[in-house]
Amino acid sequence: MTIKLEKQTIEIFKALKKKKSNEINAAEFADELGIDYIVLMSAINELKKYDLADFKEKEIFQVSLNEEGRSYLKERLPERQLLEVLLEKNQKEISLEDFQKLSDFSEKLFYIGLSYMKRNRWIAQSKATGENKIFLIEENFPETELEKFMEIFEKKNILNYSNLSKDQKKFVDLLNKRQLIKKEKKTQRIIFLTNEGKNTKVSQIEELHRISKLSSDMITSGSWREYELKPFDVTKQGPLLKGGKIHPVISMINEIQEIFLSMGFTEIRGPIIESAFFNFDALFQPQDHPARELHDTFYLDKPKEAKLPNKKNVQAVKATHENGGNSGSMGWGYDWDEDIAKQTLLRTHTTATTIRRLAEFHKNNDKMPVKVFSIDRVFRNEKVDKSHLAEFTQIEGIVIDENVNLCDLIGLITEFYKKMGFEKIITRPGFFPYTEPSMEVSVYFDKLGEWLEMGGSGIFRPEVTYPWGIKNPTRVLAWGLGLERLAMLKFEREDIRDLYINPIKWLREESY
Ligand code: PHE
Repeated sequence: MTIKLEKQTIEIFKALKKKKSNEINAAEFADELGIDYIVLMSAINELKKYDLADFKEKEIFQVSLNEEGRSYLKERLPERQLLEVLLEKNQKEISLEDFQKLSDFSEKLFYIGLSYMKRNRWIAQSKATGENKIFLIEENFPETELEKFMEIFEKKNILNYSNLSKDQKKFVDLLNKRQLIKKEKKTQRIIFLTNEGKNTKVSQIEELHRISKLSSDMITSGSWREYELKPFDVTKQGPLLKGGKIHPVISMINEIQEIFLSMGFTEIRGPIIESAFFNFDALFQPQDHPARELHDTFYLDKPKEAKLPNKKNVQAVKATHENGGNSGSMGWGYDWDEDIAKQTLLRTHTTATTIRRLAEFHKNNDKMPVKVFSIDRVFRNEKVDKSHLAEFTQIEGIVIDENVNLCDLIGLITEFYKKMGFEKIITRPGFFPYTEPSMEVSVYFDKLGEWLEMGGSGIFRPEVTYPWGIKNPTRVLAWGLGLERLAMLKFEREDIRDLYINPIKWLREESY
């Protein structure tokens, strides 16, 4: 039978023949040849088909220093450290108590060190004077055999126990007794030439021209007949591709956009740098409202002042704060200050953006219903921890229509979460200065068996809509929901910061 092998397999066969030993460690051999372990083993399997080579498995014990052991490699063994203390302070004779104090070792470590000092015959201990005393009984303290042996680990982290000499094994056993050794069982592959392999000359082997790709030229010219086609195992898992992909949070934002678009909504965006006017005043939040305080809101020095919309609307907002204006409310009853409304800030919610849309309603002569949404970044001066971020994303939206009511709002929100894969939604009474009634929205998360709060919603109060000419029976349904909370649930992340710190392992595995 003619033996036909691929070029690389022939090379490996040659290299095997050059080896003196017939027990070759596969992993080391692959390293030596500078090829992949898998490539080597598939060549051995080829050789095995012709009974030229084979492999066997061998269990070995690998030993290395554990953490404590490694620390002694650096700092030296406790007995040597203790000895240094005595030598440094020039103490040839010292009471046990003073020695311990001087050493500053933990009790346990001190006694371990002491017992090995005695074993090494560096010291003697005597109570002859009535006091427990330590004496140095040597002048010189050369490196011990054990210390010499340990230096092996400076060059090699892991030793193969069975390859060690009798003496070396003794020291490993000693270190093991001192609990400074880590042992690991490993299976190694040993490759070897069979008798047939030893007797076969390289010149007896023909080179096999194998190809894995056919070109159209090869087919038309018939030259494919000269080659052997490489077999493919179509059942084998291909290598994991670690290509770039869309970030899971962006994927989720895309999905939410799709959902709102499919429900007939249009996307809007507003400025990140907002005026207090749109962030607070237009939302009927009084100018001394605690949410405006510095600890919640990032106010800006630059730009110093925001432009307010036209006078008529500003006057109308002022009036609702002072006396309710024409909204039917009594207002808050204080003197509204235009300068406070002109303050600039990083928007604390995207409700500022939907209010801007309200302000355009009449300007645009819009046809009802107006259905818009926004998925965008907001900022709050919060301490960042596993469940809080200082910048996060809100899923915001409004519907402006005649005679819409709370049931429509609950229906909309329920529909949205259903499309996101959350079946159970609960709304509870809540409070926001700009909606009446107001609702808090929670979804049920099966895996945790818990209700989790997602955000707020409600129907904008007349004090919010009237300044822009939106009057009963036209109403505005509004909601602002958290994105990151939802993302944590979907991606099963326990730390909200992961969404932006981007642990690479998670990003690779997440297939959302
Ligand atoms: N703006 C509120 C928040 O940031 C959410 C909300 C939006 C509440 C719209 C009611 C209506 O929590």
